[in-house]
Amino acid sequence: MGNPSSVSFWTQANALLRKNLTFQKRNVKSNIRLILFPLIICVLLVLVQIIIDIELRKSEFKCGCVCANNKTRCEDSEKVCGPQYSDQIQVPTCPISNPAEWPPLLQLPAVSCKQNRSSCHFTTLFTADNHSFGHTVSKNMFPSTLVMNDSNIMDSLAPNVLGSESMTTDNNFNEPGFTLALPIYSLQTRCPRNNSGFSFAMAGTTGQQEIRCARGINLWRNSSSEINNELYKGYRRHNRKGRINEIVSAFDFLNSNEDGFNVTVWYNSTYKSNITFVPNALLRIPRSINLVSNAYLQFLKGPGTKMIFEFVKEMPKPETPIRLEIASLLGALFFTWVVLQLFPVILTSLVYEKQQKLRIMMRMHGLGDGPYWIISYGYFLALSTIYMLCFVIFGSVLGFKFFTLNDYSIQFVFYFIYTNLQISLAFLLASFFSNVKTATVTAYIGVFGTGLLAGFLFQFLVQDPSFSRGWIICMELYPGFALYRGLYEFAQSASSIGNYGTDGMRWKDLSGGANGMKEVLIIMVVEWIVVLFVAYYIDQVLSTGSGKNPLFFLRGFQKKPLPSLKKPSIKRQGSKVFAQMEKPDVIREREKVEQLLLEPTINHAIVCDNLKKFYPGRDGNLGKFAVRELFLGVPRGECFGMLGPNGAGKSSFISMMIGLTKPTSGAAYVQGLDIRNHMDGIYTSMGVCPQHDLLWESLTGREHLLFYGRLKNLTGSVLTQAVEESLKSLNLYHGRIADKQAGKYSGGMKRRLSVAISLIGDPSVVYMDEPSTGLDPASRRCLWKVIKHAKRDRAIILTTHSMEEAEALSDRLGIFVNGTMQCLGNPKELKGRYGGTYVFTMTTSSDHEKDVENMVQQLTPNANKIYHLSGTQKFELPKEDVKIASVFRAVEVAKRNFTVFAWGLADTTLEDVFIKVAREAEGFDTLS
Ligand SMILES: *[C@@H]1O[C@H](CO)[C@@H](O)[C@H](O)[C@H]1NC(C)=O
Ligand SMILES: *[C@@H]1O[C@H](CO)[C@@H](O)[C@H](O)[C@H]1NC(C)=O
Ligand SMILES: *[C@@H]1O[C@H](CO)[C@@H](O)[C@H](O)[C@H]1NC(C)=O
Ligand SMILES: *[C@@H]1O[C@H](CO)[C@@H](O)[C@H](O)[C@H]1NC(C)=O
Ligand SMILES: *[C@@H]1O[C@H](CO)[C@@H](O)[C@H](O)[C@H]1NC(C)=O
Repeated sequence: MGNPSSVSFWTQANALLRKNLTFQKRNVKSNIRLILFPLIICVLLVLVQIIIDIELRKSEFKCGCVCANNKTRCEDSEKVCGPQYSDQIQVPTCPISNPAEWPPLLQLPAVSCKQNRSSCHFTTLFTADNHSFGHTVSKNMFPSTLVMNDSNIMDSLAPNVLGSESMTTDNNFNEPGFTLALPIYSLQTRCPRNNSGFSFAMAGTTGQQEIRCARGINLWRNSSSEINNELYKGYRRHNRKGRINEIVSAFDFLNSNEDGFNVTVWYNSTYKSNITFVPNALLRIPRSINLVSNAYLQFLKGPGTKMIFEFVKEMPKPETPIRLEIASLLGALFFTWVVLQLFPVILTSLVYEKQQKLRIMMRMHGLGDGPYWIISYGYFLALSTIYMLCFVIFGSVLGFKFFTLNDYSIQFVFYFIYTNLQISLAFLLASFFSNVKTATVTAYIGVFGTGLLAGFLFQFLVQDPSFSRGWIICMELYPGFALYRGLYEFAQSASSIGNYGTDGMRWKDLSGGANGMKEVLIIMVVEWIVVLFVAYYIDQVLSTGSGKNPLFFLRGFQKKPLPSLKKPSIKRQGSKVFAQMEKPDVIREREKVEQLLLEPTINHAIVCDNLKKFYPGRDGNLGKFAVRELFLGVPRGECFGMLGPNGAGKSSFISMMIGLTKPTSGAAYVQGLDIRNHMDGIYTSMGVCPQHDLLWESLTGREHLLFYGRLKNLTGSVLTQAVEESLKSLNLYHGRIADKQAGKYSGGMKRRLSVAISLIGDPSVVYMDEPSTGLDPASRRCLWKVIKHAKRDRAIILTTHSMEEAEALSDRLGIFVNGTMQCLGNPKELKGRYGGTYVFTMTTSSDHEKDVENMVQQLTPNANKIYHLSGTQKFELPKEDVKIASVFRAVEVAKRNFTVFAWGLADTTLEDVFIKVAREAEGFDTLS
């Protein structure tokens, strides 16, 4: 056996890694389910995409067509198509080689002139530094009559001021003013009395177009702030007559004069298309600029001069079918779910090890925090990486632009950082959960809630340019939103409606202000580091088993005493030791311990020096000493049995010894190492068989032993041999039990496996907490054999409720009541000391109870009745008073006098000793 503390980092890491891999192999099904999740989502999106594509192929979403020759039904070949036959949705899809020319229109407020056609009027406001200048110029704006020439409509419309109240779309292939059934207004200084309108047919439109006269009125205002005020009031408010202010536009000529033209134009930009997915409607501004420029030109050069604005015309374009990339539209939400899906998996796995106390179990068998963190972290990272890789590959193979267009290196960096953040977060949150079910449910609610919240709230805030960027960044501090933002940016970059074009995201795009990816990456990296640190810190402080001081990291600055095996720096604490009343064996043990502390020998593996554990009172209850004062020295080769009623403090004692809790005062040394600060060193030479089996349900017995064997630095053939021997000796070898998953074991098999685990790798100190509970007699015998064999070169501390077991296994026994050792010694001694009596039992009918009592009184006046129930009575007879033969004789006599159903005489058992000691101690305790 080498130096126990020499178990290297890599040995531990290797053991854990192999265990995790086996574990993973066992979980193949759930792994496949996990990997299938992104595939299912991707396939789902493909299906939705196909449905959408089918829908978009319908005629509603294609360039509009009509039958030639005015027929109502016709073949496709007879159809003529084009923007003139299309509605607003269809127009953008048409191939347009020669776009139509449209007369420029003014945007008019949507005020009806329907009630009274003749009084229809539209107002323009103006102001200027030079009042007369303003008046002269504005007079030139509207013509007095409508000038039309039927032979050349287009040319003759140009000098007139035409306007429409129709909404605009995002293109000018079709001017809705001419294609919708709304009238065109001609703004004039006066209207003829018979305002019947003027009808004509525009080239490129199907129907007759009506032009109605409306009065264009120029009103002077004293200042631009007055105009502003009026426009403000007019905005969505009604004037006194109940009508909306009908202000077309307003001009401030400022300091313009003959030498210079300086004008401010107000226009209304609230006109939008009612088609929701056309966000950027065109504005009809050019004509109002032309209007005022023309008026100024006429002021300078006279009424003959005109600045004609004849038409507006879009650029030609090829056919562009409507395409909705669903992965880019909904991808952010669905892919957020895909990526977040990993979180519950990691969290659950971490909480499982905590709930089953496996983490503590591993620590007690020497697994340090460093290897645990690095291997677990690396393991989850590998899992996440494979998962994300599958996800991106599925998506790319299925042809989502979301994946194929964006730079793969950006995607890699993004997902890599996020998965790291996610793992750290899982580690952090795992500290706060102790139940797998709660953790799972909470995590899944979190996943779906985050997705929904991000998709239906966060996204709108991101898209809303008026929402403060600072707040967006604040929200992105929540990792789920940061993830969503990143995926949203990928989707935007890959979507055809996106702001960055359709060539996908490149590294250079990250420097642009509009792209949120840079911030997201920075936030995630910073958070990753912070969360990882906090998680490690909290794990160290909170976790039972290490329970470090919250300021443990400061300890590095103090001088650290080096653990030394041979001469531990043990100092007696100046504590008052109460004289134990009449317990010479306990006092002797204390003297032995004191002697041992002065002259430490390697032989005594366990030395407890006045160990105390006090649980402070809570909620008004008084505090309680679980362990009062405990002196104990257990040499190698001894099995020390600890008996005691429930709640006597045995578990508290074991907890302290295996490092789950800290002693309130006093100290204990295992192999010369102090349990208060060298627990890590102690773990490597310690084995524990806890009261409850701490096993991985999906690992087999053999795998458990291999794992713990590796943790104890066994390798190669030594390891295999140790595992085989251990399995054989504990009867786990036959019937392929060793290769069954521990979850399917019976209680007894689990127990035997736990014992095997505690003994593997030759630990020099072993604690066994009720090792034989739940075992059938045969298994128990076999277990005892193993323990007897094992105690040869070990110190074993054993707690049990079975007196038989205690007697069979222990070299020495201690009866532990109310936190103190009541007596110590080997079983025979104890029986001799406490059991100076025989127990006499006799069962008669209840009428003869008195006779039995008399008979016993005759045998000895010092008899003591200890039990009485409907005819059955038990007496203690002091050994020095009675002879067995006289008891027999008395019974013979009694049998003749009355009917005796049954009788018996027994020597004291350990059980009697135990009950006696426990009762005495408890009686004493209640008195004091
Ligand atoms: C105001 O404008 C008129 C021309 O409309 C010009 O004759 C006059 O000098 C201007 N007055 C000032 C103070 O500039
Ligand atoms: C109408 O336009 C045609 C051709 O441009 C021209 O010949 C004719 O004189 C115009 N008529 C009027 C009334 O201006
Ligand atoms: C505009 O100014 C003129 C003269 O400076 C004044 O008579 C008139 O009342 C003012 N109009 C308004 C609406 O304030
Ligand atoms: C601007 O247009 C909107 C939409 O038609 C209208 O409600 C609003 O009253 C207009 N504002 C003014 C000042 O006319
Ligand atoms: C236009 O007028 C404004 C306000 O009087 C003045 O600040 C600006 O300099 C002028 N611009 C030109 C080009 O004269």
